[in-house]
Amino acid sequence: KRLILIGPPGSGKGTQSPIIKDEYCLCHLATGDMLRAAVAAKTPLGIKAKEAMDKGELVSDDLVVGIIDDAMKKPSCQKGVILDGFPRTVVQAEKLDEMLQKQGAKIDKVLNFAIDDAILEERITGRWIHPSSGRTYHTKFAPPKVPGVDDVTGEPLIQRKDDTAAVLKSRLEAFHRQTEPVIGYYKNKGAVAELHAEKSPKEVTTEVQKVLSS
Ligand code: AP5
Ligand code: ZN
Repeated sequence: KRLILIGPPGSGKGTQSPIIKDEYCLCHLATGDMLRAAVAAKTPLGIKAKEAMDKGELVSDDLVVGIIDDAMKKPSCQKGVILDGFPRTVVQAEKLDEMLQKQGAKIDKVLNFAIDDAILEERITGRWIHPSSGRTYHTKFAPPKVPGVDDVTGEPLIQRKDDTAAVLKSRLEAFHRQTEPVIGYYKNKGAVAELHAEKSPKEVTTEVQKVLSS
C-alpha cells in the first residue's frame, strides 16, 4: 500500500504511523523527521531548512521533493510507503505523481486527520519525543513511565523547538493556506478517507484500520 497522511500539526500523524507501518510492513517517510535529523547533523540540507522550520514555515518544494525522491528509490520503500507530512503543497503533490508514474505505482489512500485547530495547542505544547526512534509522548495524553525518559531505551526525551504556541500559529497558517488545497487535489481523484482525529489514539487507530481493510 501507498498511503499519504495529511493533517495539521499535532493531529496524530506521527502517533498513528508506527502502528500502520508495523501492521502493513510499510516504510515510514516523515519529511519533518528527516529534516530535523538533517538540521541536527548540520548537513547542507539541514542548514538550508533550519530557518523556515524554526519559524513554522514550509521548507522549499525543491528540497523536500529531493529527499522524498531519494528515499522512495530505496528497495525497502518499493513495496509500500506511508508518506507522513508530504506532499504539503499542490506542487509537491504534482511532483509525487510524476515520481509514482515512473515507478508504475499509485497512491491507494489519503488519510485526512481532520481536527479543530482549538485542540492542537495543548497537544503540541505537551509533546515530548525520543529523537533517535521518533517515539512520541504527551505529558497528559500519553505520558512516559518515568517523566522525561524514553520507555524503551531509558534515554532522555526532548521537546521540539517549533512546539511553542507562537510557532504553532504560523504552522497552522501554513497548513490552511498551502496544505488544505492538497486535500482538494486528492478529493478530485476520490482517494481521501476522513478520520475523526480529535478522538483518542486508540479510536483513531480503529478508524484507520477500517479504512485500510475496506
Ligand atoms: P512535521 O514534523 O511534519 O510537523 P507537523 O506537520 O507540524 O506535524 P506534527 O509532527 O507536529 O504533528 P503530528 O500529526 O505528527 O502529531 P503527533 O502524532 O506527534 O514538520 C515540521 C516542519 O518541517 C514544518 O513546519 C516544515 O517547516 C518542515 N516540513 C516538513 N515536511 C515538509 C514538506 N513536505 N514541505 C515543506 N516543509 C516541510 O501528536 C502530537 C501530540 O499529541 C503528541 O504528544 C501525541 O502523543 C499527542 N496525540 C496524538 N494523537 C492523540 C490523540 N488522538 N489524542 C490525544 N493526544 C494525541
Ligand atoms: Zn509528526
